[in-house]
Amino acid sequence: MTKHSNKKSRFVILISGRGSNMQKIVETCKNENWSADISAVISNNPRASGLDWAKDNNINSISLDSSSYSDRDKFDSDLSSEIDKYSPDYILLAGFMRILGHSFVKKYYGKLINIHPSLLPAFPGLNTHSNAIASGVRIHGCTVHFVSPELDSGPIIAQGYTNVFTHDTVKTLAERVLMVEHKVLPSVAHWLTLGEVTLNNDNKAIILNDHNGLFYL
Ligand code: GAR
Repeated sequence: MTKHSNKKSRFVILISGRGSNMQKIVETCKNENWSADISAVISNNPRASGLDWAKDNNINSISLDSSSYSDRDKFDSDLSSEIDKYSPDYILLAGFMRILGHSFVKKYYGKLINIHPSLLPAFPGLNTHSNAIASGVRIHGCTVHFVSPELDSGPIIAQGYTNVFTHDTVKTLAERVLMVEHKVLPSVAHWLTLGEVTLNNDNKAIILNDHNGLFYL
C-alpha cells in the first residue's frame, strides 16, 4: 500500500565484498532525497571494502565474521541481534554471499530483499555469468526478489536485462549486469520507501503506481 505517513523507512544493508550496490543505494537515497535512513551496513566478511566506504560515509558499519562461526544458527542469531538494534523496515542483501537459515528468513519474511545476478529462475546459485555464457542464452541480467527459504527463489519484484554477445567474457558480461543492477536495486529500494511494493495473497510481489519492474541496459 502506498505510504501516507511521514515516517522514514529504515534500511539495514548486508554485504560481503566491495559493496557497489550498497554505495548506489546510499548515493541515490541522498541525491534523490528519499524519506529513508540507511541505518547500518553489516558484512559477514571483515575485509569487505564496502565496509570502509560505509565508515567513510558515516554509516554504522558492523563486521560479523562468519568464518569464525562453526554453528550456522548461532551466526544467524547474532546477525539477527545486530539487525534488530536498528529496527529496520527492510533488510537489503546487496552482494551478501552467505546462505541464511530458514528460521532467519521466516522471521524477516516480507522485509528481506536480495539482488541476484541472473534472470531468475534461470541460473540460481553461484557462477551465474559463466553459466549464462556456457548455456548460449542471448539475454542475461539480474533479479531483485523477496527472500524465501528456498535459495534464489522468492517472489520477484524487478528484473534488469542485457544482451549476451558472442564476444562476451565472464568479465565483460558481469560488468554490464552490474551496471543494470545499479539501476534495479536503488529503484526497488525507493519504491519500498514509498510503500509501493507489496506481497499479495498468492505470494506474488506487486508494484503499485505503474512503476516498471523491467530495466534494460
Ligand atoms: C552483485 O553482482 C550481486 O548481484 C551479487 O554479488 C555482487 C556484489 O557486488 N550477489 C550474489 O551473487 C548473491 N547471491 P557489489 O558488492 O559490488 O554490490
